[in-house]
Amino acid sequence: MTTTSKTAAAESGALEYTPEIAKEMAPLYERVANVIPEIEWPFHAPYIKAINDLKREKNAVILAHNYQTPEIFHGVADIVGDSLQLAKEAAEVDADVIVQCGVHFMAETSKLLNPNKTVLIPDMKAGCSLAASITGRDVRLLREKYPGVPVVTYVNTSADVKAESDICCTSSNAVQIVESLGVDRVLMIPDEYLALNVAKQTDVEIIAWHGRCEVHERFSAEEIRNYREGHPNIIVLAHPECPPEVVEEADFAGSTSAMINYVKERRPRQVVMVTECSMSDNVAAETPGVDFIRPCNLCPHMKRITLPKILHSLQTMTDEVTVDPIVAERARASVEAMIEASAPAPIAATLDHRLQASA
Ligand code: 13P
Ligand code: SF4
Repeated sequence: MTTTSKTAAAESGALEYTPEIAKEMAPLYERVANVIPEIEWPFHAPYIKAINDLKREKNAVILAHNYQTPEIFHGVADIVGDSLQLAKEAAEVDADVIVQCGVHFMAETSKLLNPNKTVLIPDMKAGCSLAASITGRDVRLLREKYPGVPVVTYVNTSADVKAESDICCTSSNAVQIVESLGVDRVLMIPDEYLALNVAKQTDVEIIAWHGRCEVHERFSAEEIRNYREGHPNIIVLAHPECPPEVVEEADFAGSTSAMINYVKERRPRQVVMVTECSMSDNVAAETPGVDFIRPCNLCPHMKRITLPKILHSLQTMTDEVTVDPIVAERARASVEAMIEASAPAPIAATLDHRLQASA
C-alpha cells in the first residue's frame, strides 16, 4: 500500500490493506474479479479478513441471502441461499452466534429456530416492504372475516404475523404448501403478486392481501418485451414477487435459488434475472461465459448490510434479535410446519412453467 492510500485509509477510518492481506486474499479476489472492481478490493479485503478471523474466535456463522453484495456473499458468508434454504440451514446451525446478512424477518426466523443462540443483524433497520404491510392484528381481523379459512403466510413477515398463521411458505414452496393443506380456499398473505402467481398454478382458491415487494413491483411486462427486442435469444428469469404479467413474459419463474440453479445448470448464453440486482453479480462470479443483462433494482433494506457493519456487529455482539417467547412459540410452529411440509423438491424443474408447457 502506498503512503497516500495508507493516509486515505486512516482518514476514512477504513482498515489498512497491507501486503500480507493482499497476498492472503489474492485467491479470493481471483474468484470475484469479474464482479468487484480492482479499485474497490483494497477496501473490502481487510474487512473480509477481520470478519473471518473474528467469526472463528466467536464460533459464529454468517448466513447470507442471495441478494447480498458479492464481497459479503463470496467473501464472508458460510451459508448462502434463498429464504427457504436459510430457514432450513438456520435450524441446523452448530455455532454459538448467527450473524444474519439479510433483512430483519430472516434474522427473526433464525432466532425462532435457535432460541438459545445469539442472533445478530448488522443493521436493525434492514426491513422489508412486505413485512411492513401487515400486522398480527390484521391477521386476526382476516380470520374473523373468513372463519375457518387457513392462513398461509409468506416468510417475509414479522414473528407477530407468523404467530397468527397456520403455516408459512416461501417463493420456492408456495404452491406445494397451499396444496398440502387439502382445502378449497386459503388466505395467502401478505404478497398480492405471489398470491396471484400461485393462484395460476393451483385449483385452490386464493384470497390475497395487498402487500407488495418494493423491488419487484417496479418491473413491467413492457420492460421484458424490450429486453427481448434488443436481445432476441435472451432467457428471462423472473421472481414470483413480480406482477403476474411480468411472470407471464418470462421463460422461467422461481425463487432466487431456483433462478441461480437455472443459470448454473443450463448456462444460457445471455440471461436477465428480473429481481434484485446484486444476485446477477453473485452468479456471474461463478458462471463465466454467461452474459448478464442487469436491470438495477436494488433492495434498500438488503443494502443496509455492509462489511464494516458486519465487523462491528461481531466486535460488539450487536444488534441482537430477540422475540417474545410466547410469540416465538406460535411463530415457530408455523415455520416448522412449512419445513416439514416442503419436501426437497427439484425446484428448478417444477417451476419452469413455460419450458414444461412447450416440452
Ligand atoms: P427468496 O430468496 O426466497 O426467493 O426471496 C426473495 C426475497 O425477496 C427475499 O427477501
Ligand atoms: Fe422485502 Fe422485496 Fe427487499 Fe425482499 S427484495 S427484502 S421482499 S423489499
